[in-house]
Amino acid sequence: MNNHKFLITNISQLLLCSSDKGRPLRGKKQSQLELMENAALLIEGDKILDFGDNSHFKKLYGEVEKIDAEFSVVMPGFVDPHTHLVFAGSREEEFLSRIKGEDYLSNLGKGKGILYTVEQTRNASFEKLYEQAKKYLYKMLENGTTSCESKSGYGLDFDAEIRTLQINRKLQNDMQVLVPSTLLAAHALPQEYQGDAQSFLTFIAEKIIPYVAENNLADFIDVFCEKGVFNAAQSEWILKQGQRYGMKPKIHTDEFFSIGGIEVAINTKAVSADHLMKTTQNDMIKLSSTDIIGVVLPGTSFNISTTSNDEYKYPRSLVDSNIPVAIGTDFNPGTCMCCSMQMMLELSVLKMGLSIEEAINASTINSAFACSLHQQAGSIEREKKANMILLNIDNYKKIPYLWGINKVYKVLLNGKILDFKND
Ligand code: NIG
Ligand code: FE
Repeated sequence: MNNHKFLITNISQLLLCSSDKGRPLRGKKQSQLELMENAALLIEGDKILDFGDNSHFKKLYGEVEKIDAEFSVVMPGFVDPHTHLVFAGSREEEFLSRIKGEDYLSNLGKGKGILYTVEQTRNASFEKLYEQAKKYLYKMLENGTTSCESKSGYGLDFDAEIRTLQINRKLQNDMQVLVPSTLLAAHALPQEYQGDAQSFLTFIAEKIIPYVAENNLADFIDVFCEKGVFNAAQSEWILKQGQRYGMKPKIHTDEFFSIGGIEVAINTKAVSADHLMKTTQNDMIKLSSTDIIGVVLPGTSFNISTTSNDEYKYPRSLVDSNIPVAIGTDFNPGTCMCCSMQMMLELSVLKMGLSIEEAINASTINSAFACSLHQQAGSIEREKKANMILLNIDNYKKIPYLWGINKVYKVLLNGKILDFKND
């Protein structure tokens, strides 16, 4: 057992990102960022043992090994609650056409979009997919992400969906990053089922879900509830099939059209409802009386050219409607190839109306709730995993000020120090 003990000293600001007594932060509370100035943090093995006043702790733990934070900001590692990490191929032509105005949804039917990536992913070996996902996960880690949810959804057949979920499990095991795994077989209708969505969903329910459950390959089940993809009734049906086997529901909804996905999220007691760019005022009111986390994906919003300036403000409306908001990257080959949570947080502050305090809580403790990691990750708490990051700034308000560059210079992953030497 690793019982290496050390004290991180001279922390200028220790961002605690505490929950609201075990619940996600919402409304006014989302803007309250708990922090300690001039702090020190004691680690033992892979756990946070204690934290407190810098000079007091230096005396109290005089004999213990010290790591000097040189008056930098220390905070919990980012929790990315929404990624499509495992895929093959790339789609830069489509991306550039969309910036010029091409419609995202109309691509789906033309063998482009998601289905292009499906073809590439089906043809890729386990090793190839694993190596690429590992490379991106390492980039995420360098940028401060120590937990990263990962969805399937580019296989859409038995073998490739299972391969993706096995890769999720192997990544967590090999990299030590927490990787909650999500079955998103209902991400699009594959060519071989065109015109027959119910048969495809039945196939997922009868063949994929039982195998996934038996082999413990997924923690969550997700669906793309969208006009021209899966409607609300189909989405609810497939989420309930997964739920019967112990997977917790999540939903992609309200990205382009509001077609009843919020109702589905509520009916299935989903853990999170993600994208939420077209959510109606009425649906926001309904969501606010639940514990469902609203996940916003700033990178994707920016890359979908139809998004008008008003829609950029939807994260603000969600917080103002008393919905606990989390931020994710949505890392995927179609709509967001940026895997940096720092960048997402910065976009949400620079352009989407969140305050820096709201955005930090949204990318740590609230995003931990969005993928059920709140007991282990997302805040600095005694007994939680020692997953945290050291940033080369003396004050957290410099995060959006120094936007677009990586400010993480050390990552603590399960109590082990990874040095990235950014200065
Ligand atoms: O979350 N919206 C659906 N799925 C992904 C994009 C997938 C793709 O275009 O490859 C998303 O943005
Ligand atoms: Fe997504």
